[in-house]
Amino acid sequence: PWHQEPYRPQIHFSPKKHWVNDPNGMVYHNGVYHLFYQHYPGGTTWGPMHWGHATSKDLVHWEEQSIKLYPDTLGFIFSGSAVYDRNNTSGFGRDGKGPLVAIFTHHVDPSQTGGKNFQYQSLAYSNDEGKTWTKYAGNPVLRKPESTDFRDPKVLWYEPGKKWIMTLAVKDQIEFYSSPDLKNWKYESEFGKNLGAHGGVWECPDLVAFDYNGKKIWVLIVNLNPGAPNGGSGTQYFLGDFDGSRFVASHTDPRWMDFGPDNYAGITWSNTGDRRILIGWMSNWNYANEVPTKNWRNAMTVPRELSLQAAGDKLLLASRPVPELKRLEGKPRLYRNIGAPETELLPSPAPIQLPALIELDATGLSAWNLVFSNEVGEELELGFDKASGQYYIDRSRSGASSFHKEFAGRHSAPVFSATPGRKVTLLVDQSSIELFADKGLTVMTELFFPSSPYSRFRLNLPAGGNMKSVRVVSLRSIHTH
Ligand code: FRU
Repeated sequence: PWHQEPYRPQIHFSPKKHWVNDPNGMVYHNGVYHLFYQHYPGGTTWGPMHWGHATSKDLVHWEEQSIKLYPDTLGFIFSGSAVYDRNNTSGFGRDGKGPLVAIFTHHVDPSQTGGKNFQYQSLAYSNDEGKTWTKYAGNPVLRKPESTDFRDPKVLWYEPGKKWIMTLAVKDQIEFYSSPDLKNWKYESEFGKNLGAHGGVWECPDLVAFDYNGKKIWVLIVNLNPGAPNGGSGTQYFLGDFDGSRFVASHTDPRWMDFGPDNYAGITWSNTGDRRILIGWMSNWNYANEVPTKNWRNAMTVPRELSLQAAGDKLLLASRPVPELKRLEGKPRLYRNIGAPETELLPSPAPIQLPALIELDATGLSAWNLVFSNEVGEELELGFDKASGQYYIDRSRSGASSFHKEFAGRHSAPVFSATPGRKVTLLVDQSSIELFADKGLTVMTELFFPSSPYSRFRLNLPAGGNMKSVRVVSLRSIHTH
């Protein structure tokens, strides 16, 4: 069956077949989390984009639904967002009820025009809980004469101004637009000149409000490709203030949500009250079209709850796996006070079963590393490096990597907490690992493709070192439980 194919994620959403990239149109409505996604149903590489659809009641188990938006005479269906239009400002609602409205980019591909490409923003709406969608007859609703790299609208309701705000990626900047009804858009401001990282084009932005000790703080999430700290695609963010028209950042340096190479295009669900839940595409444009899976390509990260956390005199964006994932936990095995000799085999003699959750308490340790391996000696190594004072994941010998020269490698991530190297949570699936350290201030997401699943793992400590505890929990597959 499809869910037992080699490398198939067991705790992450992946489509049964074919290509997937960005998560799109995430909206929570009537107890259901909607997840749409960039999808090409004609193959396992990028192609004319559609919006695929999956739903979940718990952010853990996903049911793949039918494709919801097909390319049309206005173009391919690129990334975008969805909102619950509670007050029916758009007039698309029925029987006194507000509709779900998707705001997406129509992309006219060079393959359609024989040269130029154009992008403009369009709408579709649903009055039956997202089951069927109607494209608005007045599409596109926002266009510019010079309109390449003009895409990925993320829309939120700005209550103080009683208007919708669209955050849009335009070349390597952001533009903000406002609207009373989702149909008529007015330019407000631009953001990004000389701020943050500009190694590539800016894509898939999101503007998110946080309550921090009674103060409202805005975070502007900006995906960037290429130019990420560990190569290719990555997600930077800015903290600042938004007044309904203009976003002003409180810093100029780039800050990164995830230091691994495989979390891209992440944005948050709308209509989730006080929760800020993000899901990312678990891949990288460097090799997304080449990873060695057979019937499908790529998957999403686990949903992550975002929060602001103080680190020294800075405020930073932290992400942690949503607590709903706990419902997959089996019986834990707890190991306490593991000391030298240098190499401990854990668990001994039983093999590790993936997927698994591993929690380490490395308080007081100057260095440590964990090695996952299989019987043919392929290894994934990760840990905390004393010399650089950084976390790292090394997948150079983790399995298949010849499909792209950028894949094999060792990636590292800085430490922000004043008392680093303490608590680390790992989510390990058949072909991915997600590392959350120091309350989610340091995050790394990485793919790997061993020729057979990793079955052992080994903990290495420096002489005299002591690992306070290691908790290993097998996770149930979301496909069968
Ligand atoms: C980001 C992205 C978006 C675009 C989509 C096309 O990964 O390039 O900017 O809308 O993918 O599939």
